[in-house]
Amino acid sequence: MPSKILFRIEGKEKENDELIKEIVVSDEEISARESLLTLAAKNDIAISNFCNGRGKCGRCKIIINFDEQGKLDINKELLSKVLKPEKILKGYILACLAFPKNNTNIEVIVPSESIESKYEVLSGKAVKITDREISGDAGVAIDIGTTTVATYLVDLSNNGVVASEGSYNGQVRFGADVMTRMNYIIENKTGDEALQNAIGATINIHLKNLSERKKFQKISKIVVSGNTVMTYLFLKKNPLEIRDGAYNNPNFKRAYTVKGRDVRLKYGAEDADVYCVPGLGNYVGGDITSDIIISEIFKEDKICLVIDVGTNGEVALGNKEWLAVCATSAGPAFEGGEVRCGMRAMKGAIDRLKIENQGRDVIYRVIGGEFNKPEGICGSGLIILIAELMRNGLIDANGKFNRKSAEKTERLRKSKYYEEQGQEIYEYVVVYGNETEGKEDISSLRSHISEASSDITINEKDLENLKYTKAAIFSGVMTLLRNTGVKFDEINKIFIAGGFGNFIDLESAILVGLFPDVEREKYKFIGNGSLDGAYRQLIDENARKTAENIASNVTYVDLSRDGNFVDEYSAALYFPHSRLDLFPTWKNFEGMRGTNEIEISDNKEIKEIKEKEKEETKEIKIAEVSKEAKEIKISEDKERQTKILKESKMFRIEGFKIEGDELEIEM
Ligand code: FES
Repeated sequence: MPSKILFRIEGKEKENDELIKEIVVSDEEISARESLLTLAAKNDIAISNFCNGRGKCGRCKIIINFDEQGKLDINKELLSKVLKPEKILKGYILACLAFPKNNTNIEVIVPSESIESKYEVLSGKAVKITDREISGDAGVAIDIGTTTVATYLVDLSNNGVVASEGSYNGQVRFGADVMTRMNYIIENKTGDEALQNAIGATINIHLKNLSERKKFQKISKIVVSGNTVMTYLFLKKNPLEIRDGAYNNPNFKRAYTVKGRDVRLKYGAEDADVYCVPGLGNYVGGDITSDIIISEIFKEDKICLVIDVGTNGEVALGNKEWLAVCATSAGPAFEGGEVRCGMRAMKGAIDRLKIENQGRDVIYRVIGGEFNKPEGICGSGLIILIAELMRNGLIDANGKFNRKSAEKTERLRKSKYYEEQGQEIYEYVVVYGNETEGKEDISSLRSHISEASSDITINEKDLENLKYTKAAIFSGVMTLLRNTGVKFDEINKIFIAGGFGNFIDLESAILVGLFPDVEREKYKFIGNGSLDGAYRQLIDENARKTAENIASNVTYVDLSRDGNFVDEYSAALYFPHSRLDLFPTWKNFEGMRGTNEIEISDNKEIKEIKEKEKEETKEIKIAEVSKEAKEIKISEDKERQTKILKESKMFRIEGFKIEGDELEIEM
């Protein structure tokens, strides 16, 4: 027998604003063990989901009366690993771990903290928004990102942008990245329809809001820019062709033109001519074409690089004579996903910080002003945080905390959460919970680590996820350079695009190994090039022709078929990189003291051990390496020390080898 579920959704904007939605769950859905998260997603209820429903991120919290929970099959084992017992006792469970049983009625409360909230449009540098009335027809430029969607409303009589809208992509509830969403389509009979409806609904909400804010006759032109999967879903096409198709399938490079009503657009857009910016390859979509239009690298004599930092990282390289592109699945770590205290760049997010006093002090800035309680750390803050941990010697090249630093600062400690699971994972406290008491309490968007403690921390698992993300982007750049034979010093300009691109601290991004370590003057930030590029193509017919020309002449490098990519990716899985010659800034960085660095120890204990060894063996060792190569103990022989260390107090080891020095190591 089918079951009924009543979702009560707490309104985020207004207090006591509650939305009620009842859904019927079929026998088929029950026997297929569809979770409450999946069922909610299918019925347009946007519950947060940053781990693709794997019960890891803790974002999909819902409340169900404790006595009613027996009507659900709940994975309690996993639940207790993610939520604090006090929270569970209050009726909190995770929607992705709860499966309805047959013939039952149940009421679910979705708290505001589990609902994706409004997203502020981060417009690019090329566009100025002027709040004016529209005198005639309107045009619309849309950037469909994997995570967010941004829209400009344009007065076509003078081409001015008069308003903007931004929100999360309604598809987020089906998975954080394009691969997971495609898997959703494979696993669910009507999955493609659900995803197509979700993006249609998101854009229609934008159009509705814009039509309420500005009066216009009709929308006559729309330009849409997005990665290939997003463009396909917007066009009501099945994106599995992208995954399965030949890599030079001409459909990916087609500039589709449809009518608004064909792609279910409303609110004055039914008769609009909708133009989709052509993509450049399987996973390289119209968004990077738009970046290329805005950066104008296709006009340059010298070679330029464009890096679009997003969930789907895209890279373009070339000049007026040739262009090559590739795409890399970076994941959502820089957008707040897969990092326990990560969040998006919004009020309450820490976006700037500095670590001082060997890790004892942290100075930070919160978006929205000092009276806002810090809730988590956004992408730009996370990049600075890693760089600061490196600068202060608190982490090594693998992103593991230097255990010895725990003696210097209490901020570095074993994670209780992981300890309970029998794992030794260290974490660093960025903000203690009690530091924020008394400040305005905004709804928590942080993940479950905040349940166990109100401290904002970063742990070794987070660092690993961030390392994967930065490695994916950097190795995409390296593979493209390798395939085209271009060297770093031949690149004349580097354009950084992407929603949060404008806010990245360049020095930190280079230090962690996200961007190439080249002259800083070469870097230009273009912000949301996809949105600005869509706008340019909305108002200028020639820009569309240029886009189509780029699409037919570009070389697409498919990283999934490129043997070099795996090597480049593995080499990039270090902070900053395994090849330090690529990162001269880090090599020369003064004051670094990670576990990969050694210095002459004046630790009493070591001295005593050495003395004892000398006595016992009468053998003078130059240095000893611990089994894990975590530390090296230098001989007490002053003459040898001088010889070995020359002028420098510190030098670097690569695994067990000392490079460029005379140190001999006895194993
Ligand atoms: S979506 Fe349920 S825990 Fe991540």
